[in-house]
Amino acid sequence: MISARAFTLSSRKCFQKAAATPFRTSPFSQIRTFAAPAQQQVAKFPGTKGPDGNYTVTLIEGDGIGPEISQSVKDIFAAAKVPIKWEPVDVTPILKDGKTAIPDDAIASVKRNYVALKGPLATPIGKGHVSLNLTLRRTFNLFANVRPCRSIAGYKTPYDNVDAVLIRENTEGEYSGIEHVVVDGVVQSIKLITRAASERVLRFAFQHAQSIGKKKVRVVHKATIMKMSDGLFLRTARDVAKEFPDIEFDEELLDNTCLRVVTDPTPYNDKVLVMPNLYGDILSDMCAGLIGGLGLTPSGNIGNECSIFEAVHGSAPDIAGKALANPTALLLSSIMMLQHMGLHSHASNIQNAIFTTLAEGKALTGDLGGNAKTHEYANAIVSHL
Ligand SMILES: NC(=O)c1ccc[n+]([C@@H]2O[C@H](COP(=O)([O-])OP(=O)(O)OC[C@H]3O[C@@H](n4cnc5c(N)ncnc54)[C@H](O)[C@@H]3O)[C@@H](O)[C@H]2O)c1
Repeated sequence: MISARAFTLSSRKCFQKAAATPFRTSPFSQIRTFAAPAQQQVAKFPGTKGPDGNYTVTLIEGDGIGPEISQSVKDIFAAAKVPIKWEPVDVTPILKDGKTAIPDDAIASVKRNYVALKGPLATPIGKGHVSLNLTLRRTFNLFANVRPCRSIAGYKTPYDNVDAVLIRENTEGEYSGIEHVVVDGVVQSIKLITRAASERVLRFAFQHAQSIGKKKVRVVHKATIMKMSDGLFLRTARDVAKEFPDIEFDEELLDNTCLRVVTDPTPYNDKVLVMPNLYGDILSDMCAGLIGGLGLTPSGNIGNECSIFEAVHGSAPDIAGKALANPTALLLSSIMMLQHMGLHSHASNIQNAIFTTLAEGKALTGDLGGNAKTHEYANAIVSHL
């Protein structure tokens, strides 16, 4: 029996967009592309301050420890006088036509504000829902996942001085959801790569490198084996690189990257690494391990319409409600959000206070070997603002 799943919405949108936009000749192929001038910024934050002088930001507090770590962010932002107003929304999933969906009010809020901060969401088990995180990515077409991995002074890990940035294509590749049974005992899973989606994430990667002061972009691929799919991603990367003569561009095979990163990650400190979906999923968690695990790792899901910043850890139901949670990952995600919004001085102020608090080591949460409660750690950060 054959049961084929249709193309994902995001993939279809890429095709539609590619078809609807002008094309130019590529030196590598005659396939049309929707190249934009390099100065046209991908996923630029279009929000403006309201009459009260504040930006409004959608806040998805999340489940489990979500409300506790969100409270820390709110307290620290208030103390740092960050010009934003929170708009809390409930994203308890609903089933629309048998598919997991986000409530309309929450969608409207994120679209109105162009930006959201999100705590961890527990995936309901056995209720027919798919992951809410995946649903959010699909709903808002969040095409790039940005994962900075930076060593934290005061928290000893096997490697010091790690400062890598990984960008993962978030909408297609191996996660396109196109799978079917060919005959009993034989299944096929299709890795979908489009020039349009590749170009979008690659251009974002170059622009992100420029915005954070990294001089090099490296594409990680396996085009030696996946000649057509990764080949298209790689050729598109070479093409897009020409728009950014100030950024050095090179290429590396995924297996070489893995070996070199775990041998010595410091040569990656001057680079932004960009790659297709599955490679990014695995490599970004591997790099998180270099700096002490997911509990300290922030992330940003970037889209043209809006962007959502979130900690990569889960809802930690085992410690929820006990004031034991470490809010650092959500805080560092909120700093990425401030940078995305152009609020750089507020971002630096809070970031310095976090790193000073961690380096001092006097008020650390249990996961970092201390015995401070969540709010005691947050208060220590406030005292360093
Ligand atoms: N991005 C997300 O929203 C996201 C990511 C992963 C898992 N989840 C969901 O979270 C739920 C629990 O998942 P899990 O238990 O596999 O992973 P988890 O990340 O919630 O917990 C793993 C371990 O790490 C600890 N931990 C996690 N975050 C911490 C923090 N900030 N401070 C201190 N300790 C922390 C937990 O106590 C637990 O021992 C599941 O429903 C899962 O679907 C959501």
